[in-house]
Amino acid sequence: MDIWALSDLCTPWCVHVVATLRIADHIATGITQIDDLAAASGSGSDSLHRVMRHLVGKGVFEEPAPGRFALNQPAHRLLDSATRLGLDLGGIGGRMAYAWGSLLGAVQTGAPAYHEVFHRPFWEDLQAHPDLAASFDALMGPAGHGIPDPEVLVAGGWESVRTVVDVGGGMGSLLVEILRARPEVRGTLVDLPPTVARSVEIFQVAGVAERVTAVGQSFFDPLPAGADLYLLKNVLGDWPDREAMAILRRCAEAARPGRITVLGGVSPDEDCGPSSSLLMMVLVGGRDRSQAEFRELSRAAGLEVQAAGRQPSGRLVIECRPTS
Ligand SMILES: C[S@@+](CC[C@H](N)C(=O)[O-])C[C@H]1O[C@@H](n2cnc3c(N)ncnc32)[C@H](O)[C@@H]1O
Repeated sequence: MDIWALSDLCTPWCVHVVATLRIADHIATGITQIDDLAAASGSGSDSLHRVMRHLVGKGVFEEPAPGRFALNQPAHRLLDSATRLGLDLGGIGGRMAYAWGSLLGAVQTGAPAYHEVFHRPFWEDLQAHPDLAASFDALMGPAGHGIPDPEVLVAGGWESVRTVVDVGGGMGSLLVEILRARPEVRGTLVDLPPTVARSVEIFQVAGVAERVTAVGQSFFDPLPAGADLYLLKNVLGDWPDREAMAILRRCAEAARPGRITVLGGVSPDEDCGPSSSLLMMVLVGGRDRSQAEFRELSRAAGLEVQAAGRQPSGRLVIECRPTS
């Protein structure tokens, strides 16, 4: 294995740059000559040409004639909304890319060093930059992570579920799918106030707004109580143990006698491996947990794991209930 090839940052940055400059979109609209691509993207022709040639050498884009570029299959991926959101250096893609510059600090201190690059911890950084927070929310939503699977129960029992609280539910894309699939169910979205504000239109467009309550609050504060089901999707993996346990404890307090379903943040394998969720470590100090680790954490938070299984889409689901 070649250590220099492994540590070469050139190609990833070239991909980020062309994604940010929307070069693939320009080519898709028929702008193919390097001077025209440079003009359309507000770039220097020679520097863009060098970046494009590097990428052609790596198999992204083709150069069928000198200075003329075409899309190939890998370059087509740059037209996807999810790829754009994940790579655009002007939005959350930039935060995820530049944050790797804090890896050394994170390893040396054992805590996220994101603030060394962006002056604030991740969640505070998003709250301070509304455009960035909006692009993060979009990445979490259908444009980024796709349409969520509404089958969130592994042990069945939808007949006893009339109320669902999605804790840290982003702009509500999972709640939308659940409410569409189950007309008898009402939902509550809990997330930070700006994200909840962005959800209003989404619920309206989906035609479920009259069955949703949106609550802008921290999930470290007491949650709306007494619902039949509490969802934690892609939330626990964002947090170190102390905070993850605090969130679970809030769910345990609120859920009596309901149940809690956890999706994401718990590895299907017993050993999640040290490299698992390194990006979460860098951004927010979070990590995936093995099922054994999760069981221990949830027990300490007053919950007992009752069932584990897979959604029809294949994702691991863990169901818990408050212990007493
Ligand atoms: C990784 S996203 C997951 C969103 C959604 N559950 C999903 O799967 O798409 C984590 C969510 O936690 C929310 N969040 C972060 N800190 C929070 C807090 N203190 N209180 C409530 N929500 C918070 C974020 O706004 C974001 O929507």
